[in-house]
Amino acid sequence: MPAPAASTPSATVATATAAAISETEAGAAALIETFRRAGQGHVFAFYERLDPAARRRLLADAAEIDLDEIARLSATLLGPSGAPAINLDGLAPAPYEPLPENGGDPAAWARAKTAGEAALRAGRVAAFTVAGGQGTRLGYNGPKGTFPVTPLKRKTLFQVFAEKIRAAGLRHGRPIHWFIMTSHANHDATEAFFAARAHFGLDPARVHFFRQGRMPAVDLNGKILLETTSSIAMSPDGHGGSLRALARSGALDLMDREGIDTLSYFQVDNPLVRGIDPAFIGWHLLRGSAMSSKMVPKAYAAEKVGHFCVQNGRLIVVEYSDLPKALQDETDPATGRLRYLAGSIAIHILDTKFIRRAAAGDSGAGLALPFHRADKKIPTVDAAGAPVKPEKPNGVKFELFVFDAIPFAENALVIETRRADDFSPVKNAAGLDSPQTCREDQLRQFARWLRAAGAALATDATGLPSVAVEVSPLFGYDEDSFAGSWQKLNPKPAVTEGLYLE
Ligand code: UTP
Repeated sequence: MPAPAASTPSATVATATAAAISETEAGAAALIETFRRAGQGHVFAFYERLDPAARRRLLADAAEIDLDEIARLSATLLGPSGAPAINLDGLAPAPYEPLPENGGDPAAWARAKTAGEAALRAGRVAAFTVAGGQGTRLGYNGPKGTFPVTPLKRKTLFQVFAEKIRAAGLRHGRPIHWFIMTSHANHDATEAFFAARAHFGLDPARVHFFRQGRMPAVDLNGKILLETTSSIAMSPDGHGGSLRALARSGALDLMDREGIDTLSYFQVDNPLVRGIDPAFIGWHLLRGSAMSSKMVPKAYAAEKVGHFCVQNGRLIVVEYSDLPKALQDETDPATGRLRYLAGSIAIHILDTKFIRRAAAGDSGAGLALPFHRADKKIPTVDAAGAPVKPEKPNGVKFELFVFDAIPFAENALVIETRRADDFSPVKNAAGLDSPQTCREDQLRQFARWLRAAGAALATDATGLPSVAVEVSPLFGYDEDSFAGSWQKLNPKPAVTEGLYLE
Protein backbone atom coordinates (compact mmCIF):
# COMPACT_ATOMS: atom_id res chain seq x y z
CA MET A 1 0.00 0.00 0.00
CA PRO A 2 1.53 3.38 -0.93
CA ALA A 3 1.89 6.01 1.78
CA PRO A 4 -1.38 7.84 2.37
CA ALA A 5 -1.78 11.36 1.07
CA ALA A 6 -2.63 14.17 3.44
CA SER A 7 -6.00 15.85 3.45
CA THR A 8 -5.85 19.61 3.38
CA PRO A 9 -8.72 22.04 3.70
CA SER A 10 -10.50 22.20 0.43
CA ALA A 11 -9.04 24.65 -2.06
CA THR A 12 -11.69 24.51 -4.75
CA VAL A 13 -14.63 22.54 -3.54
CA ALA A 14 -16.90 22.81 -6.56
CA THR A 15 -18.22 26.11 -5.40
CA ALA A 16 -21.97 26.31 -5.94
CA THR A 17 -24.27 24.64 -3.44
CA ALA A 18 -26.45 21.84 -4.68
CA ALA A 19 -29.52 24.03 -4.44
CA ALA A 20 -27.97 26.92 -6.30
CA ILE A 21 -26.59 24.88 -9.16
CA SER A 22 -29.77 22.98 -9.70
CA GLU A 23 -31.68 26.23 -9.89
CA THR A 24 -29.75 27.79 -12.71
CA GLU A 25 -28.80 26.41 -16.10
CA ALA A 26 -25.67 28.53 -15.97
CA GLY A 27 -24.65 27.09 -12.61
CA ALA A 28 -25.08 23.55 -13.94
CA ALA A 29 -23.11 24.34 -17.08
CA ALA A 30 -20.27 25.84 -15.04
CA LEU A 31 -20.08 22.80 -12.80
CA ILE A 32 -20.04 20.44 -15.77
CA GLU A 33 -17.29 22.50 -17.35
CA THR A 34 -15.21 22.31 -14.12
CA PHE A 35 -15.47 18.53 -14.25
CA ARG A 36 -14.57 18.47 -17.93
CA ARG A 37 -11.47 20.57 -17.34
CA ALA A 38 -10.43 18.30 -14.47
CA GLY A 39 -10.60 15.28 -16.82
CA GLN A 40 -13.81 14.07 -15.14
CA GLY A 41 -16.30 15.06 -17.84
CA HIS A 42 -17.47 11.43 -18.21
CA VAL A 43 -19.47 11.92 -15.00
CA PHE A 44 -21.99 13.77 -17.17
CA ALA A 45 -21.92 11.28 -20.06
CA PHE A 46 -25.64 10.48 -19.66
CA TYR A 47 -26.75 13.94 -18.54
CA GLU A 48 -28.59 14.83 -21.71
CA ARG A 49 -30.91 11.83 -21.37
CA LEU A 50 -31.78 12.38 -17.72
CA ASP A 51 -35.04 13.92 -16.56
CA PRO A 52 -34.81 17.14 -14.50
CA ALA A 53 -34.96 15.38 -11.10
CA ALA A 54 -32.21 12.93 -12.05
CA ARG A 55 -30.10 15.79 -13.38
CA ARG A 56 -30.49 17.60 -10.06
CA ARG A 57 -29.39 14.49 -8.18
CA LEU A 58 -26.28 14.11 -10.26
CA LEU A 59 -25.42 17.80 -9.97
CA ALA A 60 -25.87 17.67 -6.20
CA ASP A 61 -23.47 14.71 -5.94
CA ALA A 62 -20.96 16.48 -8.17
CA ALA A 63 -21.16 19.70 -6.17
CA GLU A 64 -19.95 17.85 -3.06
CA ILE A 65 -16.68 16.83 -4.68
CA ASP A 66 -13.41 18.64 -4.18
CA LEU A 67 -11.81 17.97 -7.58
CA ASP A 68 -8.37 19.21 -6.47
CA GLU A 69 -8.43 16.79 -3.59
CA ILE A 70 -9.37 13.89 -5.89
CA ALA A 71 -6.60 14.81 -8.33
CA ARG A 72 -4.07 14.96 -5.49
CA LEU A 73 -5.19 11.66 -3.99
CA SER A 74 -5.19 9.93 -7.36
CA ALA A 75 -1.66 11.17 -8.04
CA THR A 76 -0.33 9.99 -4.69
CA LEU A 77 -2.37 6.89 -3.84
CA LEU A 78 -3.05 5.19 -7.17
CA GLY A 79 0.51 4.09 -7.86
CA PRO A 80 1.40 0.39 -7.87
CA SER A 81 0.30 -1.31 -4.65
CA GLY A 82 2.74 -3.20 -2.50
CA ALA A 83 5.18 -0.48 -1.43
CA PRO A 84 5.69 -0.50 2.34
CA ALA A 85 3.01 1.64 3.93
CA ILE A 86 5.11 3.00 6.72
CA ASN A 87 8.71 3.66 7.42
CA LEU A 88 9.78 1.39 10.27
CA ASP A 89 12.91 3.33 11.26
CA GLY A 90 13.06 3.90 14.98
CA LEU A 91 9.74 2.16 15.58
CA ALA A 92 9.22 0.87 19.13
CA PRO A 93 6.30 -0.36 21.22
CA ALA A 94 4.36 2.46 22.88
CA PRO A 95 4.36 2.92 26.65
CA TYR A 96 0.98 2.73 28.38
CA GLU A 97 -0.54 3.07 31.85
CA PRO A 98 -1.07 -0.48 33.10
CA LEU A 99 -4.08 -1.44 35.19
CA PRO A 100 -3.42 -1.75 38.92
CA GLU A 101 -3.64 -5.55 38.71
CA ASN A 102 -0.85 -5.47 36.10
CA GLY A 103 1.53 -3.24 37.98
CA GLY A 104 -0.17 0.17 37.66
CA ASP A 105 -0.26 2.56 40.60
CA PRO A 106 -3.63 2.11 42.38
CA ALA A 107 -3.44 5.61 43.87
CA ALA A 108 -2.92 7.16 40.43
CA TRP A 109 -5.93 5.22 39.07
CA ALA A 110 -8.01 6.40 42.03
CA ARG A 111 -6.97 10.01 41.41
CA ALA A 112 -7.89 9.64 37.75
CA LYS A 113 -11.34 8.30 38.63
CA THR A 114 -11.97 11.18 41.03
CA ALA A 115 -10.90 13.73 38.40
CA GLY A 116 -13.12 12.11 35.77
CA GLU A 117 -16.11 12.11 38.10
CA ALA A 118 -15.59 15.81 38.83
CA ALA A 119 -15.51 16.56 35.08
CA LEU A 120 -18.75 14.61 34.61
CA ARG A 121 -20.44 16.45 37.46
CA ALA A 122 -19.32 19.73 35.87
CA GLY A 123 -20.89 18.73 32.54
CA ARG A 124 -17.59 18.93 30.65
CA VAL A 125 -17.89 15.53 28.95
CA ALA A 126 -20.04 14.39 26.02
CA ALA A 127 -20.39 10.96 24.44
CA PHE A 128 -19.65 10.53 20.75
CA THR A 129 -20.59 7.52 18.63
CA VAL A 130 -19.38 7.09 15.07
CA ALA A 131 -22.18 5.32 13.24
CA GLY A 132 -21.59 6.28 9.63
CA GLY A 133 -19.96 3.05 8.46
CA GLN A 134 -21.52 0.84 5.82
CA GLY A 135 -21.37 -2.33 7.88
CA THR A 136 -20.88 -4.48 4.80
CA ARG A 137 -19.32 -7.39 6.67
CA LEU A 138 -22.32 -7.78 8.98
CA GLY A 139 -24.65 -7.58 6.00
CA TYR A 140 -27.54 -6.16 8.03
CA ASN A 141 -30.13 -4.08 6.28
CA GLY A 142 -30.43 -0.83 8.24
CA PRO A 143 -28.25 1.46 10.36
CA LYS A 144 -25.87 -0.78 12.31
CA GLY A 145 -26.91 0.85 15.58
CA THR A 146 -30.39 -0.63 15.09
CA PHE A 147 -28.99 -4.17 15.15
CA PRO A 148 -30.36 -6.22 18.12
CA VAL A 149 -27.47 -7.36 20.22
CA THR A 150 -28.26 -8.22 23.85
CA PRO A 151 -28.77 -11.86 24.86
CA LEU A 152 -32.31 -11.82 26.25
CA LYS A 153 -34.09 -8.59 25.48
CA ARG A 154 -32.56 -8.22 22.03
CA LYS A 155 -31.86 -4.57 22.73
CA THR A 156 -30.28 -2.73 19.87
CA LEU A 157 -26.77 -1.28 19.96
CA PHE A 158 -28.23 2.23 20.16
CA GLN A 159 -30.45 1.26 23.12
CA VAL A 160 -27.50 -0.20 25.02
CA PHE A 161 -25.48 3.00 24.58
CA ALA A 162 -28.48 5.17 25.43
CA GLU A 163 -29.02 3.29 28.69
CA LYS A 164 -25.34 3.51 29.59
CA ILE A 165 -25.28 7.24 28.90
CA ARG A 166 -28.47 7.75 30.87
CA ALA A 167 -27.09 5.75 33.79
CA ALA A 168 -23.84 7.74 33.80
CA GLY A 169 -25.80 11.00 33.78
CA LEU A 170 -27.93 9.87 36.72
CA ARG A 171 -24.89 8.70 38.61
CA HIS A 172 -23.11 12.05 38.26
CA GLY A 173 -26.17 14.25 38.68
CA ARG A 174 -25.74 15.76 35.22
CA PRO A 175 -27.35 14.47 32.02
CA ILE A 176 -24.82 13.85 29.27
CA HIS A 177 -24.96 15.14 25.70
CA TRP A 178 -24.63 12.43 23.04
CA PHE A 179 -23.36 13.15 19.54
CA ILE A 180 -24.00 10.55 16.86
CA MET A 181 -22.34 10.70 13.49
CA THR A 182 -24.44 9.18 10.73
CA SER A 183 -23.92 8.83 6.99
CA HIS A 184 -25.99 10.19 4.12
CA ALA A 185 -27.30 6.67 3.64
CA ASN A 186 -28.46 6.06 7.22
CA HIS A 187 -29.11 9.52 8.67
CA ASP A 188 -32.88 9.70 8.22
CA ALA A 189 -33.41 6.10 9.32
CA THR A 190 -31.29 6.69 12.43
CA GLU A 191 -33.19 9.81 13.46
CA ALA A 192 -36.53 8.09 12.83
CA PHE A 193 -35.43 5.10 14.91
CA PHE A 194 -34.68 7.29 17.93
CA ALA A 195 -37.85 9.35 17.50
CA ALA A 196 -40.02 6.23 17.36
CA ARG A 197 -38.53 5.01 20.65
CA ALA A 198 -38.72 8.32 22.53
CA HIS A 199 -34.91 8.53 22.46
CA PHE A 200 -34.82 5.67 24.98
CA GLY A 201 -35.65 8.05 27.81
CA LEU A 202 -32.91 10.56 26.99
CA ASP A 203 -33.74 14.23 26.59
CA PRO A 204 -34.01 14.65 22.78
CA ALA A 205 -32.43 18.08 23.17
CA ARG A 206 -29.26 16.32 24.27
CA VAL A 207 -29.08 13.78 21.44
CA HIS A 208 -27.46 15.29 18.36
CA PHE A 209 -27.22 13.64 14.95
CA PHE A 210 -25.01 14.89 12.15
CA ARG A 211 -23.90 13.47 8.83
CA GLN A 212 -20.34 12.69 7.96
CA GLY A 213 -18.76 13.71 4.67
CA ARG A 214 -18.60 11.64 1.52
CA MET A 215 -15.90 10.93 -1.03
CA PRO A 216 -16.34 9.65 -4.58
CA ALA A 217 -14.83 6.32 -5.56
CA VAL A 218 -12.46 6.37 -8.52
CA ASP A 219 -11.29 3.70 -10.95
CA LEU A 220 -7.66 2.65 -11.00
CA ASN A 221 -6.86 5.57 -13.32
CA GLY A 222 -8.40 8.15 -11.01
CA LYS A 223 -11.62 8.58 -12.99
CA ILE A 224 -14.64 9.18 -10.75
CA LEU A 225 -17.02 6.21 -10.90
CA LEU A 226 -20.72 6.57 -11.57
CA GLU A 227 -23.00 4.35 -9.51
CA THR A 228 -25.88 4.82 -11.93
CA THR A 229 -26.29 7.11 -14.90
CA SER A 230 -27.59 9.79 -12.54
CA SER A 231 -25.51 9.28 -9.39
CA ILE A 232 -21.85 9.18 -8.43
CA ALA A 233 -20.42 6.27 -6.41
CA MET A 234 -20.09 8.22 -3.15
CA SER A 235 -19.22 6.66 0.20
CA PRO A 236 -18.53 7.86 3.75
CA ASP A 237 -15.08 9.40 4.22
CA GLY A 238 -14.01 7.09 7.08
CA HIS A 239 -14.25 7.45 10.87
CA GLY A 240 -11.46 10.02 10.64
CA GLY A 241 -13.96 12.15 8.74
CA SER A 242 -15.69 12.57 12.09
CA LEU A 243 -13.28 15.33 13.09
CA ARG A 244 -14.14 17.57 10.17
CA ALA A 245 -17.81 16.64 10.39
CA LEU A 246 -17.90 17.65 14.06
CA ALA A 247 -16.63 21.09 13.05
CA ARG A 248 -18.67 21.50 9.87
CA SER A 249 -21.95 20.42 11.46
CA GLY A 250 -21.74 22.99 14.25
CA ALA A 251 -21.39 20.25 16.89
CA LEU A 252 -18.18 21.81 18.24
CA ASP A 253 -19.88 25.20 18.53
CA LEU A 254 -22.70 23.59 20.46
CA MET A 255 -20.16 21.95 22.78
CA ASP A 256 -18.50 25.32 23.37
CA ARG A 257 -21.85 26.84 24.29
CA GLU A 258 -22.58 23.97 26.68
CA GLY A 259 -19.15 24.09 28.37
CA ILE A 260 -18.13 20.69 26.95
CA ASP A 261 -14.40 20.35 26.30
CA THR A 262 -13.95 16.58 26.41
CA LEU A 263 -15.40 14.05 23.95
CA SER A 264 -15.62 10.34 24.66
CA TYR A 265 -15.35 8.58 21.27
CA PHE A 266 -16.53 5.01 20.61
CA GLN A 267 -17.76 2.91 17.71
CA VAL A 268 -21.31 1.83 17.09
CA ASP A 269 -20.41 -1.85 16.88
CA ASN A 270 -19.13 -2.41 20.42
CA PRO A 271 -21.88 -2.77 23.06
CA LEU A 272 -19.40 -3.67 25.79
CA VAL A 273 -17.70 -0.29 25.68
CA ARG A 274 -17.78 1.81 28.82
CA GLY A 275 -18.62 4.89 26.80
CA ILE A 276 -18.42 7.07 29.89
CA ASP A 277 -15.48 5.86 31.95
CA PRO A 278 -14.47 8.25 34.75
CA ALA A 279 -10.96 6.83 35.19
CA PHE A 280 -10.21 7.14 31.47
CA ILE A 281 -11.56 10.69 31.41
CA GLY A 282 -9.50 11.54 34.48
CA TRP A 283 -6.24 10.14 33.09
CA HIS A 284 -6.81 12.21 29.96
CA LEU A 285 -7.47 15.42 31.88
CA LEU A 286 -4.77 15.04 34.53
CA ARG A 287 -2.12 14.40 31.86
CA GLY A 288 -3.21 17.38 29.76
CA SER A 289 -3.65 15.02 26.82
CA ALA A 290 -5.23 16.20 23.57
CA MET A 291 -6.17 12.66 22.56
CA SER A 292 -6.09 9.54 24.70
CA SER A 293 -6.70 5.91 23.82
CA LYS A 294 -7.46 2.60 25.45
CA MET A 295 -5.42 -0.50 24.70
CA VAL A 296 -5.86 -4.17 25.39
CA PRO A 297 -2.98 -6.63 25.37
CA LYS A 298 -3.24 -8.51 22.08
CA ALA A 299 -4.79 -11.93 22.50
CA TYR A 300 -2.27 -13.50 20.08
CA ALA A 301 0.53 -12.23 17.87
CA ALA A 302 -1.46 -12.03 14.65
CA GLU A 303 -4.60 -10.48 16.15
CA LYS A 304 -6.03 -8.02 13.64
CA VAL A 305 -5.88 -4.84 15.68
CA GLY A 306 -3.78 -1.71 15.23
CA HIS A 307 -0.61 -1.53 17.33
CA PHE A 308 0.27 1.44 19.52
CA CYS A 309 3.89 2.32 18.75
CA VAL A 310 6.24 5.25 19.13
CA GLN A 311 8.39 6.73 16.40
CA ASN A 312 10.46 9.92 16.60
CA GLY A 313 8.95 10.65 19.97
CA ARG A 314 5.39 10.47 18.67
CA LEU A 315 2.66 8.01 19.48
CA ILE A 316 1.26 6.30 16.38
CA VAL A 317 -1.05 3.43 15.52
CA VAL A 318 0.35 0.96 13.01
CA GLU A 319 -2.27 -1.21 11.34
CA TYR A 320 -1.80 -4.97 11.60
CA SER A 321 -1.41 -5.18 7.85
CA ASP A 322 1.49 -2.72 8.01
CA LEU A 323 3.47 -4.26 10.88
CA PRO A 324 5.82 -6.99 9.57
CA LYS A 325 5.07 -10.43 10.94
CA ALA A 326 8.54 -10.65 12.50
CA LEU A 327 7.71 -7.63 14.67
CA GLN A 328 4.22 -8.91 15.47
CA ASP A 329 5.76 -12.16 16.72
CA GLU A 330 8.63 -10.60 18.69
CA THR A 331 8.63 -11.35 22.41
CA ASP A 332 10.27 -9.63 25.35
CA PRO A 333 13.01 -11.98 26.60
CA ALA A 334 12.44 -10.89 30.20
CA THR A 335 8.70 -11.52 30.35
CA GLY A 336 8.03 -13.77 27.37
CA ARG A 337 5.16 -11.45 26.41
CA LEU A 338 4.69 -9.95 22.96
CA ARG A 339 6.79 -6.80 22.52
CA TYR A 340 4.18 -5.11 20.34
CA LEU A 341 1.48 -5.87 22.85
CA ALA A 342 -0.76 -2.81 22.91
CA GLY A 343 -3.74 -3.35 20.62
CA SER A 344 -5.94 -0.42 19.66
CA ILE A 345 -9.67 -0.92 20.23
CA ALA A 346 -10.89 2.40 18.82
CA ILE A 347 -11.85 3.99 22.12
CA HIS A 348 -10.57 7.52 22.56
CA ILE A 349 -11.03 10.73 24.46
CA LEU A 350 -10.48 13.93 22.54
CA ASP A 351 -10.07 17.51 23.59
CA THR A 352 -12.50 19.67 21.60
CA LYS A 353 -9.90 22.36 20.80
CA PHE A 354 -7.69 19.66 19.34
CA ILE A 355 -10.60 18.42 17.20
CA ARG A 356 -11.06 21.93 15.87
CA ARG A 357 -7.43 22.14 14.86
CA ALA A 358 -7.51 18.69 13.27
CA ALA A 359 -10.70 19.56 11.40
CA ALA A 360 -9.16 22.73 10.03
CA GLY A 361 -6.14 20.74 8.82
CA ASP A 362 -3.89 23.03 10.87
CA SER A 363 -0.97 22.73 8.50
CA GLY A 364 1.26 24.91 10.69
CA ALA A 365 1.30 22.05 13.16
CA GLY A 366 1.44 19.51 10.32
CA LEU A 367 -1.98 18.42 11.47
CA ALA A 368 -3.46 17.03 8.27
CA LEU A 369 -4.94 13.57 8.45
CA PRO A 370 -3.81 11.36 5.57
CA PHE A 371 -6.28 9.59 3.30
CA HIS A 372 -5.93 5.84 2.92
CA ARG A 373 -6.75 3.82 -0.13
CA ALA A 374 -9.16 0.85 0.01
CA ASP A 375 -9.59 -1.27 -3.11
CA LYS A 376 -13.23 -2.34 -3.46
CA LYS A 377 -15.76 -3.90 -5.78
CA ILE A 378 -17.80 -0.85 -6.68
CA PRO A 379 -21.08 -1.28 -8.56
CA THR A 380 -21.03 1.02 -11.55
CA VAL A 381 -22.31 1.39 -15.14
CA ASP A 382 -20.72 0.53 -18.48
CA ALA A 383 -20.28 2.83 -21.46
CA ALA A 384 -23.88 2.24 -22.47
CA GLY A 385 -25.17 3.02 -18.96
CA ALA A 386 -26.01 -0.62 -18.09
CA PRO A 387 -25.35 -1.69 -14.47
CA VAL A 388 -22.08 -3.57 -13.77
CA LYS A 389 -21.50 -5.67 -10.66
CA PRO A 390 -17.77 -6.27 -10.57
CA GLU A 391 -16.37 -9.65 -9.55
CA LYS A 392 -13.04 -8.19 -8.40
CA PRO A 393 -11.98 -4.77 -7.12
CA ASN A 394 -12.50 -2.23 -9.90
CA GLY A 395 -11.88 0.94 -7.98
CA VAL A 396 -10.68 2.70 -4.90
CA LYS A 397 -12.33 4.44 -1.98
CA PHE A 398 -10.55 7.10 0.04
CA GLU A 399 -10.91 7.06 3.82
CA LEU A 400 -9.64 8.99 6.83
CA PHE A 401 -8.81 7.12 10.06
CA VAL A 402 -9.36 8.79 13.43
CA PHE A 403 -6.23 7.31 14.98
CA ASP A 404 -4.11 9.22 12.47
CA ALA A 405 -4.77 12.28 14.64
CA ILE A 406 -2.87 10.73 17.58
CA PRO A 407 0.67 11.69 16.49
CA PHE A 408 -0.39 15.34 16.47
CA ALA A 409 -1.91 15.30 19.95
CA GLU A 410 -0.06 16.93 22.83
CA ASN A 411 0.72 14.49 25.66
CA ALA A 412 -1.04 11.66 23.81
CA LEU A 413 -1.74 8.91 26.29
CA VAL A 414 -2.58 5.21 26.24
CA ILE A 415 -4.16 3.39 29.17
CA GLU A 416 -4.82 -0.30 29.57
CA THR A 417 -8.32 -1.69 29.89
CA ARG A 418 -9.76 -5.15 30.43
CA ARG A 419 -10.99 -6.54 27.15
CA ALA A 420 -13.84 -8.32 28.92
CA ASP A 421 -15.13 -4.98 30.21
CA ASP A 422 -14.69 -2.81 27.14
CA PHE A 423 -14.42 -4.61 23.84
CA SER A 424 -16.49 -7.13 21.93
CA PRO A 425 -17.33 -5.72 18.52
CA VAL A 426 -19.93 -7.01 16.10
CA LYS A 427 -18.17 -6.92 12.74
CA ASN A 428 -18.99 -10.16 10.93
CA ALA A 429 -22.20 -12.10 10.38
CA ALA A 430 -20.61 -15.26 11.79
CA GLY A 431 -17.34 -16.45 13.35
CA LEU A 432 -14.93 -14.01 14.95
CA ASP A 433 -16.43 -10.72 16.23
CA SER A 434 -19.96 -11.74 15.35
CA PRO A 435 -23.36 -11.40 17.08
CA GLN A 436 -22.70 -14.82 18.63
CA THR A 437 -19.29 -13.98 20.15
CA CYS A 438 -20.61 -10.63 21.36
CA ARG A 439 -23.66 -12.24 22.98
CA GLU A 440 -21.39 -14.67 24.79
CA ASP A 441 -19.08 -11.89 25.97
CA GLN A 442 -22.07 -10.00 27.38
CA LEU A 443 -23.25 -13.15 29.16
CA ARG A 444 -19.78 -13.69 30.64
CA GLN A 445 -19.77 -10.12 31.92
CA PHE A 446 -23.20 -10.45 33.58
CA ALA A 447 -22.10 -13.76 35.10
CA ARG A 448 -18.90 -12.20 36.49
CA TRP A 449 -20.87 -9.39 38.10
CA LEU A 450 -23.38 -11.79 39.60
CA ARG A 451 -20.72 -14.05 41.02
CA ALA A 452 -18.67 -11.11 42.35
CA ALA A 453 -21.83 -9.95 44.16
CA GLY A 454 -22.16 -13.37 45.74
CA ALA A 455 -24.82 -15.03 43.55
CA ALA A 456 -24.45 -18.72 42.73
CA LEU A 457 -24.19 -19.32 39.01
CA ALA A 458 -22.53 -22.14 37.11
CA THR A 459 -20.24 -21.25 34.22
CA ASP A 460 -18.00 -23.17 31.86
CA ALA A 461 -14.21 -22.80 31.80
CA THR A 462 -14.50 -19.65 29.68
CA GLY A 463 -16.88 -18.03 32.18
CA LEU A 464 -19.94 -18.54 29.98
CA PRO A 465 -22.98 -19.07 32.25
CA SER A 466 -25.17 -22.13 31.88
CA VAL A 467 -28.30 -19.92 31.81
CA ALA A 468 -28.95 -16.77 29.81
CA VAL A 469 -29.31 -13.67 32.00
CA GLU A 470 -29.23 -9.95 31.22
CA VAL A 471 -28.49 -6.79 33.18
CA SER A 472 -29.76 -3.37 32.18
CA PRO A 473 -27.07 -0.65 32.32
CA LEU A 474 -29.56 1.20 34.52
CA PHE A 475 -29.28 -1.60 37.09
CA GLY A 476 -25.49 -1.88 36.90
CA TYR A 477 -22.89 -1.04 34.35
CA ASP A 478 -19.76 -2.26 36.09
CA GLU A 479 -18.95 -4.62 38.89
CA ASP A 480 -19.31 -1.98 41.61
CA SER A 481 -22.55 -0.41 40.44
CA PHE A 482 -24.00 -3.90 39.90
CA ALA A 483 -23.01 -4.99 43.41
CA GLY A 484 -24.63 -1.83 44.83
CA SER A 485 -27.98 -2.57 43.16
CA TRP A 486 -27.80 -6.29 43.91
CA GLN A 487 -27.26 -5.69 47.63
CA LYS A 488 -30.46 -3.64 47.73
CA LEU A 489 -32.60 -6.45 46.30
CA ASN A 490 -34.57 -8.15 49.00
CA PRO A 491 -35.35 -10.97 48.47
CA LYS A 492 -32.77 -11.79 45.84
CA PRO A 493 -34.19 -13.30 42.64
CA ALA A 494 -33.25 -16.84 41.66
CA VAL A 495 -30.52 -16.80 39.04
CA THR A 496 -32.25 -18.93 36.45
CA GLU A 497 -32.73 -18.86 32.69
CA GLY A 498 -34.28 -15.58 31.57
CA LEU A 499 -33.42 -13.47 34.62
CA TYR A 500 -33.48 -9.81 33.61
CA LEU A 501 -32.29 -7.20 36.09
CA GLU A 502 -33.48 -3.69 35.44
P1 UTP B 1 -15.54 -0.33 10.43
O1 UTP B 1 -14.14 -0.10 10.09
O2 UTP B 1 -15.87 -1.59 11.13
O3 UTP B 1 -16.38 -0.19 9.07
O4 UTP B 1 -16.07 0.90 11.26
P2 UTP B 1 -17.91 -0.40 8.78
O5 UTP B 1 -18.18 0.44 7.57
O6 UTP B 1 -18.80 -0.15 9.97
O7 UTP B 1 -18.06 -1.94 8.44
P3 UTP B 1 -17.58 -2.76 7.16
O8 UTP B 1 -16.09 -2.61 7.09
O9 UTP B 1 -18.28 -2.18 5.97
O10 UTP B 1 -18.02 -4.15 7.47
C1 UTP B 1 -15.69 1.10 12.58
C2 UTP B 1 -16.56 2.19 13.15
O11 UTP B 1 -16.38 3.39 12.44
C3 UTP B 1 -17.61 3.85 11.94
C4 UTP B 1 -18.50 2.64 11.87
O12 UTP B 1 -19.86 3.01 11.88
C5 UTP B 1 -18.06 1.90 13.09
O13 UTP B 1 -18.65 2.47 14.24
N1 UTP B 1 -17.39 4.46 10.61
C6 UTP B 1 -16.65 3.82 9.69
C7 UTP B 1 -17.96 5.67 10.35
O14 UTP B 1 -18.67 6.26 11.19
N2 UTP B 1 -17.76 6.22 9.12
C8 UTP B 1 -17.01 5.62 8.17
O15 UTP B 1 -16.87 6.18 7.07
C9 UTP B 1 -16.44 4.39 8.46
